[in-house]
Amino acid sequence: MPDPDTAVRRVTGHFRSLTGRSPDGVWAAPGRVNLIGEHVDYNGGLCLPFALPHRTLVALSPRSDDRIRLTSAQIRPVPDARGATRAATWRGSLGEIAPGRSPGWVGYAAGVAWGLRRLGFDVPGFDAVVDGHVPLGSGLSSSAALECAVAVALDEVAGLGADPSQLAEACIAAENEIAGAPTGGMDQTAALRCRAGHALLLDTRDGSVEHLSLDLAAAGTELLVIDTRARHSLVDGQYGSRRAMCEQAARILGVTTLREVDDLAAALDRLPHDEMRRRVRHVVTEIERVRRTADLLSSRRLGELGPLLDASHASLRDDYEVSCPELDLGCSVAREAGASGARMTGGGFGGSAIALVETGRTEAVAGAVTAAFAARDWAAPAFLRAVPSDPAGRVR
Ligand code: GLA
Repeated sequence: MPDPDTAVRRVTGHFRSLTGRSPDGVWAAPGRVNLIGEHVDYNGGLCLPFALPHRTLVALSPRSDDRIRLTSAQIRPVPDARGATRAATWRGSLGEIAPGRSPGWVGYAAGVAWGLRRLGFDVPGFDAVVDGHVPLGSGLSSSAALECAVAVALDEVAGLGADPSQLAEACIAAENEIAGAPTGGMDQTAALRCRAGHALLLDTRDGSVEHLSLDLAAAGTELLVIDTRARHSLVDGQYGSRRAMCEQAARILGVTTLREVDDLAAALDRLPHDEMRRRVRHVVTEIERVRRTADLLSSRRLGELGPLLDASHASLRDDYEVSCPELDLGCSVAREAGASGARMTGGGFGGSAIALVETGRTEAVAGAVTAAFAARDWAAPAFLRAVPSDPAGRVR
């Protein structure tokens, strides 16, 4: 991620070349790491994400008509009919955004306007340039960062006065209905509501949040993000099939969501097959691990988190089956090299893992993981240090 001023200058420069004038403002929203509580947000569970310093910026101005012009700095410029190089720009109107009609990144960005309008907000047309610094496809929620940056920008320029839960709802609608990814909502809430220096204890049953201090440095630890470079997608059916099986299990058990299961052994006895039993066991035990992690955070015992991270990874790997060889290797090598715990983070099937490492040991852990990947001829992993950072907001 470039320094904040450079990032703002870059997106502003793109905006000027699109429109010939300066944007009304620049807004940014962060990617996230989930400390623990994976695949529980669509089961009414608890999760503990925090915002990364890596952000997606949006330079935006409202228009007086219903047109939308959208450019992404991440889309390669294409030559136009006269051979001049121009940034790839999507041009459309508010009325054109609809499920199945707004492909790829455009759906995530323009879909937010659709989501806000569906909530009754009077959203104008707009010109926008997006510039993402959250690694794409890394399980660090680049899509939620894009949606939330657009949401806070539209909210401000149009004076909508939406509250954070309405903004989150519009972003989730963009992702679920326009982009077609059946995700649970943790990422959007994290991007909008996290606080620097804190993890967000999010109760997805009622949307309530609590900010728990996460002072890694004071505890002599760091959280190293291992981006395995194995690319994941949340629209390829695997994520949706996990979600559908949880909903089916809840119906069989006669509960609204798996959050309501209090007696796990009795619930497992009533389920028809092993796969469903394992999925439910993951969800119920993971929610309990979040409670225990929250207790450790509240009593400032971060040094004791390791075994909970390890148990979460094992459950996601064996019971929920959303890990992959790159994530498993990254976690096991990190542990062997001295991490006190490690787990995949985010939706899985590729993407990133996190490792809790004593301060000063991250280079050694990163080196060991890099060597293990090289020995298998896998693409080199990337690393970043996760520092709990600010939520979405205006940056210029
Ligand atoms: C993705 C989804 C979230 C959540 C996680 C798994 O990041 O967007 O809603 O389900 O996977 O915890």
